[in-house]
Amino acid sequence: MSVIDQIRRKAKERLMRVVLPEGDEPRTVEAAAEVAREGLARPILLGDPQKVAAAAAARGADITGIEVIDPENSEQAARYTAALYELRKAKGLTEEAAGRLVSDPMYYGIMMVKLGDADGLVSGAVHTTGDMLRPALQIIKTRPGMKVVSSSFLMDCPNKSLGENGLLVYADCVVMPCPTAEELAHIAVAAADTARTLCGIEEPKVALLSFSTKGSAKHELVDKVQQATQIAHQLAPELLLDGEMQMDAALIPEIGASKAPGSPVAGHANVLIFPDLQAGNIGYKITQRIGGAECFAVLQGLAKPCNDLSRGCSAEDIVNTVAITAVQAQAVT
Ligand code: ACO
Repeated sequence: MSVIDQIRRKAKERLMRVVLPEGDEPRTVEAAAEVAREGLARPILLGDPQKVAAAAAARGADITGIEVIDPENSEQAARYTAALYELRKAKGLTEEAAGRLVSDPMYYGIMMVKLGDADGLVSGAVHTTGDMLRPALQIIKTRPGMKVVSSSFLMDCPNKSLGENGLLVYADCVVMPCPTAEELAHIAVAAADTARTLCGIEEPKVALLSFSTKGSAKHELVDKVQQATQIAHQLAPELLLDGEMQMDAALIPEIGASKAPGSPVAGHANVLIFPDLQAGNIGYKITQRIGGAECFAVLQGLAKPCNDLSRGCSAEDIVNTVAITAVQAQAVT
């Protein structure tokens, strides 16, 4: 079974409430109808009910029974405004500005998640990654023990000899442009958790990647990955994790055995940690476009799950991201 089929099956086991702030966007409305029909989650659409209904009619989507909330005319707006003001007043947010933000569906949705009126959020069919990430970072914040929010890509590769039967988790490919050694260590630990929670990988094997394997090259960039490996060992001593190593040493058993003999990870890694965002973002796109992998993005390290879409996404992509968010929510709810 593919990783996304596994995730969809797990999502159905316990229905989570997933809020969709772009509720009058046609692909989103179509996706919400499909999510409800399949029983993957309880979707909540935000937006003007007339516009939501028009988008549903245009797409032929049946949204009967799906909750639609208009942030501009909501009974909860005052409660969310007061809570947002309390959370951000030290950062200079006024009560008036908090009220304006809460009428924006993105902030309204984030406040629903923050205050427990929804279990997770999916957005980004219209908004940019930054528009979606900033309120999540400012308001939802990191989960206890986690220093940073980052991302993983679940890469379902046609070559089933790689990783966990063709499945690899790549991090970070979206969020942190230039992580410090400590931040990289936290990304590694979070990616291992994503591998367990979402992919059902019982024993993540985490490789911190570099252009050097075990000191074969000397450079300050290599030093950073070596430091990150040490810190990650301290953060999660039980985790099978090793570095620094090259991509081939991480993935190919014979090369791992020759370049990193005795490593518990080399040659068998299923979680790959890239040293910075340029490497991670380029790496996942090479695997997707040249390697033919199917890929699914997730944000990790947030106290409650919020996930971003690509603006070119299809309704099916939104359905999958809602299922991913629901499974992440099951793990924290
Ligand atoms: N983890 C936790 N908190 C964070 C993080 C993080 N990684 N980054 C920022 N924050 C917090 C800050 O501490 C701050 O909190 P505070 O206001 O309570 O003090 C708040 O978030 C805002 O911080 P800024 O430094 O102002 O962050 P900014 O808004 O400038 O940028 C962002 C954050 C959007 C995540 C930035 O790092 C970014 O643009 N990353 C790259 C996104 C991107 O373009 N990715 C590639 C394309 S996507 C794709 O290819 C699929």
